Amino acid sequence: MVTLSIIKADTGGFVGHSAVHPDMVSAAKEALSAAVTDRLLVDGATACCGDDLSLIMTHEHGPDAEAVHSFAWDVFRQTTRIAQQLGLYGAGQDLLSDAFSGNLRGMGPGYAELEFTERPSEPVVCFLADKTEPGAWNLPLYKAFADPFNTAGLVIDSKMHAGFRFEVYDLYEEKRIWFDCPRELYEMLMFIGAPARYVIHSVESKTLHEQAVATSTQRLSLIAGKYVGKDDPVMIVRCQSGLPALGEVLEPFAFAYTAGGCMRGSHHAPMMPVSVRDAHPARFDGPPRVVALGFQVHDGMLIGPRDLFDDPSFDRARAQTNEVMDYLRRHGPFEPHRLPLEDLEYTTMAELEERLAERWQPMPQAAVPAPR
Ligand code: 13P
Ligand code: 13P
Ligand code: MG
Ligand code: MG
Ligand code: MG
Repeated sequence: MVTLSIIKADTGGFVGHSAVHPDMVSAAKEALSAAVTDRLLVDGATACCGDDLSLIMTHEHGPDAEAVHSFAWDVFRQTTRIAQQLGLYGAGQDLLSDAFSGNLRGMGPGYAELEFTERPSEPVVCFLADKTEPGAWNLPLYKAFADPFNTAGLVIDSKMHAGFRFEVYDLYEEKRIWFDCPRELYEMLMFIGAPARYVIHSVESKTLHEQAVATSTQRLSLIAGKYVGKDDPVMIVRCQSGLPALGEVLEPFAFAYTAGGCMRGSHHAPMMPVSVRDAHPARFDGPPRVVALGFQVHDGMLIGPRDLFDDPSFDRARAQTNEVMDYLRRHGPFEPHRLPLEDLEYTTMAELEERLAERWQPMPQAAVPAPR
Protein backbone atom coordinates (compact mmCIF):
# COMPACT_ATOMS: atom_id res chain seq x y z
CA MET A 1 0.00 0.00 0.00
CA VAL A 2 1.10 3.53 -0.74
CA THR A 3 -0.36 6.76 0.64
CA LEU A 4 -0.55 9.90 -1.43
CA SER A 5 -0.82 12.98 0.81
CA ILE A 6 -1.29 16.57 -0.22
CA ILE A 7 -0.75 18.84 2.79
CA LYS A 8 -1.06 22.57 2.15
CA ALA A 9 -1.00 25.90 3.89
CA ASP A 10 -0.84 29.61 3.22
CA THR A 11 2.14 30.76 5.26
CA GLY A 12 2.47 34.17 3.65
CA GLY A 13 1.53 35.87 0.39
CA PHE A 14 3.75 37.53 -2.24
CA VAL A 15 2.33 40.15 -3.02
CA GLY A 16 -0.84 40.45 -0.90
CA HIS A 17 -2.64 37.10 -1.29
CA SER A 18 -1.53 36.42 -4.89
CA ALA A 19 1.44 34.01 -4.82
CA VAL A 20 4.03 32.10 -2.77
CA HIS A 21 7.55 33.60 -2.69
CA PRO A 22 10.17 31.46 -4.53
CA ASP A 23 12.39 31.33 -1.40
CA MET A 24 9.57 29.55 0.45
CA VAL A 25 9.18 27.05 -2.39
CA SER A 26 12.96 26.37 -2.40
CA ALA A 27 12.96 25.73 1.34
CA ALA A 28 10.04 23.31 1.00
CA LYS A 29 11.79 21.50 -1.89
CA GLU A 30 14.94 21.05 0.17
CA ALA A 31 12.97 19.73 3.13
CA LEU A 32 11.18 17.24 0.86
CA SER A 33 14.42 15.88 -0.61
CA ALA A 34 15.87 15.51 2.89
CA ALA A 35 12.73 13.60 3.95
CA VAL A 36 13.14 11.28 0.94
CA THR A 37 16.83 10.73 1.82
CA ASP A 38 15.78 9.97 5.43
CA ARG A 39 13.20 7.50 4.08
CA LEU A 40 10.28 9.25 5.73
CA LEU A 41 8.86 9.75 2.24
CA VAL A 42 9.11 7.69 -0.93
CA ASP A 43 8.81 10.80 -3.09
CA GLY A 44 7.76 14.42 -2.81
CA ALA A 45 6.98 17.47 -4.92
CA THR A 46 5.98 21.04 -4.18
CA ALA A 47 3.26 22.95 -6.01
CA CYS A 48 1.57 26.29 -5.59
CA CYS A 49 -1.82 27.72 -6.38
CA GLY A 50 -2.03 31.41 -5.52
CA ASP A 51 -0.64 32.01 -2.03
CA ASP A 52 -1.01 28.35 -0.99
CA LEU A 53 1.94 25.97 -0.89
CA SER A 54 1.23 22.25 -1.30
CA LEU A 55 3.49 19.37 -0.33
CA ILE A 56 2.61 16.40 -2.55
CA MET A 57 4.06 13.29 -0.91
CA THR A 58 4.05 9.52 -1.23
CA HIS A 59 4.89 7.32 1.75
CA GLU A 60 3.99 4.11 3.58
CA HIS A 61 2.68 5.53 6.86
CA GLY A 62 -1.02 5.73 5.96
CA PRO A 63 -3.36 8.74 6.34
CA ASP A 64 -3.18 10.92 9.48
CA ALA A 65 0.34 9.69 10.26
CA GLU A 66 2.04 11.71 12.98
CA ALA A 67 5.46 11.49 11.29
CA VAL A 68 4.18 12.91 7.98
CA HIS A 69 1.91 15.55 9.50
CA SER A 70 4.59 16.80 11.89
CA PHE A 71 7.07 16.95 9.01
CA ALA A 72 4.63 19.16 7.04
CA TRP A 73 4.01 21.30 10.12
CA ASP A 74 7.76 21.88 10.49
CA VAL A 75 8.08 22.83 6.81
CA PHE A 76 5.26 25.36 7.18
CA ARG A 77 6.88 26.84 10.30
CA GLN A 78 10.08 27.23 8.32
CA THR A 79 8.32 28.90 5.36
CA THR A 80 6.55 31.16 7.87
CA ARG A 81 9.94 32.30 9.18
CA ILE A 82 11.01 33.15 5.61
CA ALA A 83 7.76 35.06 5.10
CA GLN A 84 8.40 36.97 8.31
CA GLN A 85 11.95 37.83 7.26
CA LEU A 86 10.69 39.16 3.92
CA GLY A 87 7.69 40.91 5.48
CA LEU A 88 5.31 38.94 3.26
CA TYR A 89 1.59 39.36 3.73
CA GLY A 90 -0.14 37.19 6.34
CA ALA A 91 2.99 35.30 7.43
CA GLY A 92 1.87 32.06 9.06
CA GLN A 93 -1.74 32.82 8.09
CA ASP A 94 -3.01 29.22 8.17
CA LEU A 95 -1.05 28.05 11.24
CA LEU A 96 -3.76 28.46 13.84
CA SER A 97 -2.04 26.67 16.70
CA ASP A 98 1.32 27.11 18.44
CA ALA A 99 2.14 23.50 19.12
CA PHE A 100 1.82 20.30 17.10
CA SER A 101 0.05 17.43 18.80
CA GLY A 102 -0.39 14.13 16.94
CA ASN A 103 -1.84 15.26 13.62
CA LEU A 104 -2.93 18.39 11.75
CA ARG A 105 -6.66 18.06 12.43
CA GLY A 106 -8.02 21.45 13.46
CA MET A 107 -4.61 23.14 13.23
CA GLY A 108 -5.13 25.11 10.01
CA PRO A 109 -3.22 23.37 7.19
CA GLY A 110 -5.50 21.48 4.80
CA TYR A 111 -4.86 17.92 3.71
CA ALA A 112 -6.22 15.25 1.38
CA GLU A 113 -4.80 11.74 1.79
CA LEU A 114 -5.54 8.54 -0.10
CA GLU A 115 -4.10 5.09 0.66
CA PHE A 116 -4.23 2.47 -2.10
CA THR A 117 -2.65 -0.58 -3.60
CA GLU A 118 -0.92 0.66 -6.73
CA ARG A 119 -2.46 -0.67 -9.95
CA PRO A 120 -0.13 -1.68 -12.82
CA SER A 121 -0.68 1.87 -14.08
CA GLU A 122 -1.85 4.48 -11.59
CA PRO A 123 -2.79 7.85 -13.12
CA VAL A 124 -3.77 10.45 -10.50
CA VAL A 125 -4.67 14.12 -10.61
CA CYS A 126 -3.83 16.49 -7.77
CA PHE A 127 -6.17 19.48 -7.87
CA LEU A 128 -5.18 22.64 -6.00
CA ALA A 129 -7.45 25.67 -5.64
CA ASP A 130 -7.02 29.19 -4.30
CA LYS A 131 -9.60 31.76 -3.12
CA THR A 132 -12.39 29.28 -2.52
CA GLU A 133 -13.88 26.80 -0.06
CA PRO A 134 -13.83 22.98 0.19
CA GLY A 135 -17.37 22.65 -1.21
CA ALA A 136 -15.99 23.95 -4.52
CA TRP A 137 -15.17 20.32 -5.42
CA ASN A 138 -18.82 19.19 -5.06
CA LEU A 139 -19.98 20.14 -8.55
CA PRO A 140 -17.02 18.73 -10.53
CA LEU A 141 -17.06 15.52 -8.46
CA TYR A 142 -20.77 15.08 -9.03
CA LYS A 143 -20.27 15.53 -12.76
CA ALA A 144 -17.23 13.25 -13.05
CA PHE A 145 -18.62 10.39 -10.92
CA ALA A 146 -22.39 10.64 -11.34
CA ASP A 147 -23.36 12.49 -14.52
CA PRO A 148 -23.46 10.42 -17.72
CA PHE A 149 -23.58 13.61 -19.80
CA ASN A 150 -20.08 14.31 -18.47
CA THR A 151 -18.71 10.82 -18.05
CA ALA A 152 -19.25 8.42 -20.93
CA GLY A 153 -17.83 5.55 -18.86
CA LEU A 154 -20.90 5.53 -16.60
CA VAL A 155 -22.81 4.31 -19.67
CA ILE A 156 -20.28 2.36 -21.72
CA ASP A 157 -17.79 0.91 -19.20
CA SER A 158 -19.14 -2.19 -17.43
CA LYS A 159 -16.85 -1.52 -14.45
CA MET A 160 -18.55 1.85 -13.88
CA HIS A 161 -22.15 0.88 -14.51
CA ALA A 162 -22.95 0.14 -10.85
CA GLY A 163 -21.94 3.66 -9.91
CA PHE A 164 -20.09 5.21 -6.98
CA ARG A 165 -20.55 5.85 -3.28
CA PHE A 166 -20.03 9.41 -2.04
CA GLU A 167 -19.06 10.28 1.53
CA VAL A 168 -20.48 13.72 2.46
CA TYR A 169 -19.52 15.75 5.53
CA ASP A 170 -21.81 18.19 7.31
CA LEU A 171 -19.20 20.72 8.42
CA TYR A 172 -21.57 22.58 10.74
CA GLU A 173 -22.60 19.55 12.80
CA GLU A 174 -19.43 17.51 12.25
CA LYS A 175 -21.18 14.38 11.02
CA ARG A 176 -21.02 12.36 7.80
CA ILE A 177 -23.21 10.21 5.56
CA TRP A 178 -22.71 7.89 2.55
CA PHE A 179 -24.85 8.19 -0.57
CA ASP A 180 -25.16 5.27 -2.96
CA CYS A 181 -25.32 6.67 -6.52
CA PRO A 182 -27.08 6.59 -8.96
CA ARG A 183 -29.84 5.27 -6.63
CA GLU A 184 -29.61 8.23 -4.25
CA LEU A 185 -28.59 11.00 -6.64
CA TYR A 186 -31.49 13.25 -5.82
CA GLU A 187 -31.11 12.86 -2.06
CA MET A 188 -27.41 13.65 -2.36
CA LEU A 189 -27.95 16.72 -4.54
CA MET A 190 -30.21 18.26 -1.91
CA PHE A 191 -27.15 18.40 0.37
CA ILE A 192 -24.14 18.91 -1.88
CA GLY A 193 -25.94 21.73 -3.71
CA ALA A 194 -25.27 23.71 -0.48
CA PRO A 195 -21.46 23.57 -0.62
CA ALA A 196 -20.79 26.04 2.20
CA ARG A 197 -22.04 23.35 4.61
CA TYR A 198 -22.01 19.94 2.88
CA VAL A 199 -18.78 18.77 1.31
CA ILE A 200 -17.88 15.57 -0.55
CA HIS A 201 -14.99 14.04 1.37
CA SER A 202 -14.40 10.83 -0.60
CA VAL A 203 -15.78 8.72 -3.45
CA GLU A 204 -15.41 4.97 -3.97
CA SER A 205 -16.21 2.61 -6.81
CA LYS A 206 -19.02 0.15 -6.07
CA THR A 207 -17.56 -2.36 -8.51
CA LEU A 208 -13.87 -2.14 -7.62
CA HIS A 209 -14.33 -1.27 -3.92
CA GLU A 210 -11.51 1.20 -4.43
CA GLN A 211 -11.38 4.73 -3.07
CA ALA A 212 -11.02 7.08 -6.02
CA VAL A 213 -11.16 10.52 -4.40
CA ALA A 214 -9.99 12.31 -1.28
CA THR A 215 -10.62 16.01 -0.63
CA SER A 216 -9.51 18.42 2.07
CA THR A 217 -12.62 19.34 4.00
CA GLN A 218 -11.66 21.71 6.82
CA ARG A 219 -13.32 25.10 7.12
CA LEU A 220 -10.75 27.48 8.58
CA SER A 221 -13.33 29.93 9.85
CA LEU A 222 -15.16 27.14 11.70
CA ILE A 223 -11.88 26.12 13.34
CA ALA A 224 -10.69 29.61 14.20
CA GLY A 225 -14.12 31.07 14.98
CA LYS A 226 -13.25 34.07 12.80
CA TYR A 227 -12.05 34.86 9.28
CA VAL A 228 -8.45 33.82 8.73
CA GLY A 229 -8.44 33.50 4.94
CA LYS A 230 -10.22 31.06 2.68
CA ASP A 231 -9.64 27.31 2.87
CA ASP A 232 -8.25 26.95 -0.64
CA PRO A 233 -8.90 23.20 -0.84
CA VAL A 234 -7.01 20.38 -2.53
CA MET A 235 -8.16 17.03 -3.87
CA ILE A 236 -6.73 13.77 -5.19
CA VAL A 237 -8.53 11.85 -7.95
CA ARG A 238 -7.42 8.45 -9.28
CA CYS A 239 -8.35 7.82 -12.93
CA GLN A 240 -8.92 5.14 -15.59
CA SER A 241 -9.59 1.36 -15.51
CA GLY A 242 -13.06 1.38 -13.95
CA LEU A 243 -12.71 4.95 -12.66
CA PRO A 244 -13.44 8.03 -14.77
CA ALA A 245 -10.82 8.60 -17.49
CA LEU A 246 -8.44 11.52 -17.09
CA GLY A 247 -10.45 13.55 -19.58
CA GLU A 248 -13.71 12.76 -17.77
CA VAL A 249 -12.22 14.03 -14.51
CA LEU A 250 -11.09 17.29 -16.16
CA GLU A 251 -14.22 17.86 -18.25
CA PRO A 252 -16.34 19.51 -15.49
CA PHE A 253 -13.83 22.38 -15.35
CA ALA A 254 -14.67 23.31 -18.96
CA PHE A 255 -17.64 25.11 -17.36
CA ALA A 256 -16.86 28.20 -15.24
CA TYR A 257 -19.19 27.32 -12.35
CA THR A 258 -19.24 29.74 -9.43
CA ALA A 259 -18.08 29.14 -5.88
CA GLY A 260 -17.76 31.15 -2.68
CA GLY A 261 -14.43 32.89 -2.10
CA CYS A 262 -12.65 35.60 -4.09
CA MET A 263 -12.23 39.01 -2.40
CA ARG A 264 -12.10 38.67 1.40
CA GLY A 265 -13.56 35.19 1.03
CA SER A 266 -16.98 36.83 0.80
CA HIS A 267 -18.03 36.74 -2.85
CA HIS A 268 -19.38 34.36 -5.44
CA ALA A 269 -17.06 34.18 -8.42
CA PRO A 270 -16.40 31.72 -11.25
CA MET A 271 -13.72 29.04 -11.00
CA MET A 272 -10.93 29.51 -13.55
CA PRO A 273 -8.97 26.40 -14.62
CA VAL A 274 -5.38 27.55 -15.25
CA SER A 275 -1.84 26.38 -15.83
CA VAL A 276 0.58 26.69 -12.91
CA ARG A 277 2.01 29.78 -14.61
CA ASP A 278 -1.37 31.53 -14.40
CA ALA A 279 -2.35 30.43 -10.89
CA HIS A 280 -1.97 33.91 -9.39
CA PRO A 281 -5.33 35.47 -8.58
CA ALA A 282 -5.02 39.26 -8.74
CA ARG A 283 -8.24 40.81 -10.06
CA PHE A 284 -10.48 41.40 -7.01
CA ASP A 285 -8.32 38.71 -5.35
CA GLY A 286 -9.72 36.30 -7.88
CA PRO A 287 -11.27 34.85 -9.81
CA PRO A 288 -10.67 31.62 -7.84
CA ARG A 289 -8.08 29.43 -9.57
CA VAL A 290 -7.78 25.69 -9.95
CA VAL A 291 -4.74 23.82 -11.23
CA ALA A 292 -4.61 20.12 -12.09
CA LEU A 293 -1.32 18.28 -11.80
CA GLY A 294 -1.25 14.82 -13.35
CA PHE A 295 1.11 12.11 -12.10
CA GLN A 296 1.66 8.48 -12.84
CA VAL A 297 2.41 6.90 -9.47
CA HIS A 298 4.89 4.07 -10.03
CA ASP A 299 6.55 2.11 -7.22
CA GLY A 300 5.47 5.05 -5.08
CA MET A 301 7.35 7.53 -7.25
CA LEU A 302 5.56 10.60 -8.58
CA ILE A 303 6.19 10.50 -12.33
CA GLY A 304 5.26 14.03 -13.37
CA PRO A 305 3.69 16.46 -12.99
CA ARG A 306 1.88 17.28 -16.18
CA ASP A 307 0.22 20.69 -15.99
CA LEU A 308 -3.15 19.50 -17.27
CA PHE A 309 -5.01 22.82 -17.64
CA ASP A 310 -2.11 24.14 -19.73
CA ASP A 311 -4.28 23.23 -22.68
CA PRO A 312 -6.04 25.51 -25.19
CA SER A 313 -9.18 23.39 -24.89
CA PHE A 314 -9.79 25.18 -21.57
CA ASP A 315 -9.46 28.63 -23.20
CA ARG A 316 -13.23 28.93 -23.54
CA ALA A 317 -13.72 28.19 -19.84
CA ARG A 318 -11.17 30.90 -19.06
CA ALA A 319 -12.96 33.36 -21.37
CA GLN A 320 -16.28 32.41 -19.76
CA THR A 321 -14.74 33.05 -16.33
CA ASN A 322 -13.77 36.58 -17.36
CA GLU A 323 -17.22 37.27 -18.76
CA VAL A 324 -18.98 35.97 -15.63
CA MET A 325 -16.52 37.91 -13.48
CA ASP A 326 -17.36 41.15 -15.32
CA TYR A 327 -21.06 40.48 -14.86
CA LEU A 328 -20.84 39.62 -11.16
CA ARG A 329 -18.44 42.49 -10.37
CA ARG A 330 -20.99 45.00 -11.58
CA HIS A 331 -23.19 43.96 -8.65
CA GLY A 332 -20.58 45.48 -6.31
CA PRO A 333 -21.75 44.97 -2.72
CA PHE A 334 -25.05 43.35 -3.75
CA GLU A 335 -25.94 39.68 -3.61
CA PRO A 336 -25.49 37.29 -5.30
CA HIS A 337 -21.93 38.58 -5.87
CA ARG A 338 -21.56 39.30 -2.18
CA LEU A 339 -22.30 36.17 -0.13
CA PRO A 340 -25.53 36.07 1.91
CA LEU A 341 -25.20 37.50 5.42
CA GLU A 342 -24.82 34.13 7.14
CA ASP A 343 -21.92 33.07 4.87
CA LEU A 344 -20.00 36.35 4.94
CA GLU A 345 -16.46 35.83 6.18
CA TYR A 346 -16.03 39.52 7.01
CA THR A 347 -18.89 41.54 8.41
CA THR A 348 -19.60 44.87 10.02
CA MET A 349 -23.21 43.81 10.71
CA ALA A 350 -22.91 43.10 14.45
CA GLU A 351 -21.29 46.48 15.03
CA LEU A 352 -23.86 48.25 12.85
CA GLU A 353 -26.80 46.57 14.57
CA GLU A 354 -25.54 47.81 17.91
CA ARG A 355 -24.74 51.33 16.74
CA LEU A 356 -28.04 51.78 14.89
CA ALA A 357 -30.28 49.93 17.37
CA GLU A 358 -31.87 53.15 18.70
CA ARG A 359 -32.57 54.57 15.26
CA TRP A 360 -34.81 51.79 13.99
CA GLN A 361 -38.50 52.83 14.24
CA PRO A 362 -41.61 50.71 13.78
CA MET A 363 -43.04 50.93 10.26
CA PRO A 364 -45.99 53.39 9.99
CA GLN A 365 -49.40 51.74 10.59
CA ALA A 366 -51.62 51.36 7.53
CA ALA A 367 -53.80 54.50 7.14
CA VAL A 368 -56.97 52.42 6.75
CA PRO A 369 -57.28 49.63 9.35
CA ALA A 370 -57.46 46.22 7.76
CA PRO A 371 -61.07 44.84 7.73
CA ARG A 372 -61.75 42.31 10.50
P1 13P B 1 -5.92 6.15 -27.01
O1 13P B 1 -6.27 5.31 -28.22
O2 13P B 1 -5.29 7.48 -27.38
O3 13P B 1 -5.13 5.37 -26.00
O4 13P B 1 -7.29 6.57 -26.26
C1 13P B 1 -8.00 5.64 -25.51
C2 13P B 1 -9.18 6.19 -24.80
O5 13P B 1 -10.06 5.43 -24.41
C3 13P B 1 -9.31 7.64 -24.53
O6 13P B 1 -10.42 7.94 -23.70
P1 13P C 1 -6.41 33.54 1.05
O1 13P C 1 -7.20 32.55 1.87
O2 13P C 1 -5.98 32.97 -0.25
O3 13P C 1 -5.27 34.09 1.86
O4 13P C 1 -7.37 34.73 0.68
C1 13P C 1 -7.69 35.64 1.67
C2 13P C 1 -8.47 36.83 1.21
O5 13P C 1 -9.18 37.40 2.01
C3 13P C 1 -8.39 37.28 -0.18
O6 13P C 1 -9.08 38.50 -0.38
MG1 MG D 1 -3.38 34.55 1.98
MG1 MG E 1 -4.98 31.21 -0.52
MG1 MG F 1 -6.49 30.70 2.39
